[in-house]
Amino acid sequence: MERLVIHGGRKLEGAVEINGAKNAAVAILPAVVAASSGKCLIDNVPDIEDVHCLDRILSSLGCEVKKIDNNTLEIDSTSVNTVNACTEDVRRMRASYYFIGALLARFKEAKVELPGGCPIGVRPIDQHIKGFEALGADVVIEHGAVHVKAKQLKGANIFFDVVSVGATINVMIAATLAEGVTTLENVAKEPHVVDVANFLNSMGANIKGAGTDVIRITGVKKLTGCAYSVIPDQIEAGTFMIAAAATRGDITIKNVIPKHLESISAKLLEMGVEIIEGDDSVRVRYVGDLKGVNIKTMPYPGFPTDVQQPMSTLLSVVPGRSIITESIWESRHKHIDELKKMGANIKVEGRVAIIDGVNSLSGAVVKATDLRAGAAMVIAGLIASGKTEITSIEHIDRGYPHIENKFRSLGAKIERITVEE
Ligand code: EPU
Repeated sequence: MERLVIHGGRKLEGAVEINGAKNAAVAILPAVVAASSGKCLIDNVPDIEDVHCLDRILSSLGCEVKKIDNNTLEIDSTSVNTVNACTEDVRRMRASYYFIGALLARFKEAKVELPGGCPIGVRPIDQHIKGFEALGADVVIEHGAVHVKAKQLKGANIFFDVVSVGATINVMIAATLAEGVTTLENVAKEPHVVDVANFLNSMGANIKGAGTDVIRITGVKKLTGCAYSVIPDQIEAGTFMIAAAATRGDITIKNVIPKHLESISAKLLEMGVEIIEGDDSVRVRYVGDLKGVNIKTMPYPGFPTDVQQPMSTLLSVVPGRSIITESIWESRHKHIDELKKMGANIKVEGRVAIIDGVNSLSGAVVKATDLRAGAAMVIAGLIASGKTEITSIEHIDRGYPHIENKFRSLGAKIERITVEE
């Protein structure tokens, strides 16, 4: 098993490049399956475990996947020969559920095992199912798999009961090849939703309105291969922004879309951090004492739930009281117990974390309880005195490409070690 070992107390300085967005890439790769001819050349794909997992699932379905370089994949989905995605890899990750929408669109049938993912709360897929049924599919859950089947998919008006990234993307993919027009209302507006829509349009789909509350999809006859570049990762960028402020550093974060970072920048500014936006970069500089802030996570353009945990680490060493309310996931404060082992003073009441800033954290052996919790522990290790050892880092590797190399290039003392369990 691997661990990250960090000797904290160093300011982060310099520049770091952000990779492609995990949550866009993990939807785009399954969506490739909907193309019945041509190859997809996809660039700016992050080199993370979730992507490796998807590569294996694509191959198991009959796709030819060629790795052009660390961030570029060429996928030929012409020869997909099964609608059955029931492997260990499918069970391991959340985004494997996008194979339901993609296989249903092209073959009018899919059998996909129920997905796994981070243990951050109940993760129902009722809104995905509601969408597939509205398009005319029969949906049955049997032996731990979702089985969807339709004679013909027909466009429909679908109003989602909750704003869901996954349901918006999955039903949007399924509707691309449906007969007629599909209207999706109360949809998610995250940058990765827009990116997936742009990708599908590059394959020949006709999707309008992604990024607003209503998405309109006019069904087309077929989708074909294309060349596409994934947008930069809003959450990876946010993690480095927070790490810069937490270590009292000064770093320039390159290859970002500053507009996507506005809710994070606004909170850092409110705390007293300096933010200098470039065209495709953002510089984050500690310029003096910080003050506590209150945060409530919300769907985009609100403050992203996926940056909430790293933010709690920063706030744990900011004077005064800060309150974080997690409104998307009911169990996304598990990392707080780990932060407390390092000396943080935080009380959790349901979805609310009440943080009273302490002067410093001290190194300890702590666990990455999920992906973003892992990022929170890395930042805690970077600011703590002494040595921090992070266990269960497979969670971190699912979503952050080469995290230790990136932090090391900014001056951190961080290494990956292998231990006998
Ligand atoms: N929900 C339902 N029914 C559904 C779907 C969702 O009630 O059918 C509820 C969920 O329980 C949750 C809320 O709606 O309370 C939002 O869930 P959403 O569907 O938006 O989440 P997701 O698609 O499962 C994606 C990201 C998460 C991110 C959320 C919110 C991927 C693979 N995952 O999850 O990312 O937290 O959107 O932005 O895109 C992460 O990257 O660390 C991560 C967990």
